[in-house]
Amino acid sequence: MSGLIPQHFIDELLQRADIAQVIGTRMQLTRAGREYKARCPFHSEKTPSFTVSPHKGFYHCFGCGAHGNAIGFLMENDRLEFPAAVEVLAEMLGLELPAEAESGDRKPLEPVYAALDAAARWFRDSLREHPPAIDYLKGRGVNGQLARDFGLGYAPAGWDALLRALGGSDTRNRELATAGLLATRDSGGWYDRFRDRVMFPIRDMRGRVIGFGGRLMGPGEPKYLNSPETPVFHKGRELYGLYEARRAQRRITRLLIVEGYMDVIGLAAHGITEVVGTLGTATTPDHLRRLFATCPEIVFCFDGDRAGREAAWRALQVALPELREGRSVSFLLLPEGHDPDSLVRAEGSEAFRERLAGASPLSTFLLDRLCADSDLGGIDGRARVAELARPLLAQVPEGVYRELFIEQLGERIGIGGNRLAELLGLSPAPVAAQAPAPRRSPARGGRGTLVRQAVTLLLHFPAIGGNIAVPEGLAAVRLPGVGLLLELLALTGSKPDIRTATLLERFRERPERPHLEALLAVEPLVDQDGARRELEDCLGKLRVAAQHQRMSELLSLAGEQRLDSAGRDELRALQRELARPGGAV
Ligand code: UTP
Ligand code: MN
Repeated sequence: MSGLIPQHFIDELLQRADIAQVIGTRMQLTRAGREYKARCPFHSEKTPSFTVSPHKGFYHCFGCGAHGNAIGFLMENDRLEFPAAVEVLAEMLGLELPAEAESGDRKPLEPVYAALDAAARWFRDSLREHPPAIDYLKGRGVNGQLARDFGLGYAPAGWDALLRALGGSDTRNRELATAGLLATRDSGGWYDRFRDRVMFPIRDMRGRVIGFGGRLMGPGEPKYLNSPETPVFHKGRELYGLYEARRAQRRITRLLIVEGYMDVIGLAAHGITEVVGTLGTATTPDHLRRLFATCPEIVFCFDGDRAGREAAWRALQVALPELREGRSVSFLLLPEGHDPDSLVRAEGSEAFRERLAGASPLSTFLLDRLCADSDLGGIDGRARVAELARPLLAQVPEGVYRELFIEQLGERIGIGGNRLAELLGLSPAPVAAQAPAPRRSPARGGRGTLVRQAVTLLLHFPAIGGNIAVPEGLAAVRLPGVGLLLELLALTGSKPDIRTATLLERFRERPERPHLEALLAVEPLVDQDGARRELEDCLGKLRVAAQHQRMSELLSLAGEQRLDSAGRDELRALQRELARPGGAV
């Protein structure tokens, strides 16, 4: 992604994001009144001083001073650049990046989506008219409700059923072909790609159909036929069932990763709905990014045979760079000869959940494998394990997670964590050195100047800027921060529902940002109504200050005999007004 992300989109993201939910995908939060608390992920601490404020859309650590909005959190916690953090947040909210934010020229995709949607509906209708396909699904434990939830369908036999039903003009046929539904004959002309197959629509996070998998009901090759790569379908990136899982569970805390379409559906049939499928491809970093954007805990389920173990090992390697404190990755290897679908049908959901509870954490899985064929009794064997572990551990980002990992390795091979880290040539990255130096804690108590006070109030309660009179002449007042105050008044005035987080985002690249963040760190002593009154009071006083400033300007002009009659009128009016009781500051 190289294009510019439009401001309105960033605004929308931050207005919509529930920061507690965003941070909750990465760590455990505990409710404390209107806010949430946790031990700070950015420095090591025993008592929680990390505070998340959902109504402001902001987090703040009173221990180390770390703070920011949802985008800032993702940048810090996931170590992402700004555009990537925006992308992850958009993904979490199920929002599509605006086209201008993406690189390259993009042809309009609407007709492709429309073709896929029409096909999905037509396949569903065809299923109702094709009892053998219904029987096939029933035979696999898929009832009507489940078929509806997953939008299952049937592609009729023959070479042109879909072509006849949905095709037409050349343009239309080309759209169906772009969508992966029609193929071209060498001799010219079109034919159906999916024929006599049970159809599994693959949907994106917004629920739009982006592709299909089609299964033969009898023997034959290939067993599953998938959509080809199309402008909207990229096999290595999509996860089958993610949309359905998110619909089934309001708040997903864990996701299971399985290989097949029927594994996702078979588990769902047994009430295990937090499942996604990788469509038979190896797990990619894109997959993991998507999954971690949804929840902090993922469990890989692989068949227990050799191929399954190898696939698990490859997945582990892809996962290493994604590990962080607060995330968990574990592995469940199934008994030989079973896949998740067949196992849950054989054993039932209780037994399957028990197996899930016993899944091996990634670190255990990795160390088990490294230790399996080394003799840990001897020095050589232990050194060999350390040697094997080195390149793997080096891929884990520095931080608490890696520390714990090294510690576990140390326990296995009987070498203390710090010495081992040295041996491995991996910095022990002491937790304390990781934490940002405690920043100067913002002054409490004294509320500072009028301008500062007004800015603070607007930051904390942006809604109060919505309906407030900006004093005439404020722009001319020579006080530090007046420009900033005017800017905030204009922003909150034009967008009465803007949130603190969104407001602050406007200042990401600006020198004022640290200053604003420091002001935000001080909890106001008033509620919103109180804040409105205080702001009115501040602005009233600033208005008077502006009048005083203007008056002294006029007076000095008068001293130089340079005051014209309009100036003299203005001076007299000002003097009258400022002489009124309550007029002076
Ligand atoms: P499996 O061969 O393990 O099949 O493929 P399965 O999922 O258990 O299917 P059922 O239970 O026999 O219906 C796992 C996944 O690999 C992809 C599909 O996504 C499938 O779900 N695959 C498999 C293909 O894309 N093409 C194939 O020919 C086979
Ligand atoms: Mn299967």
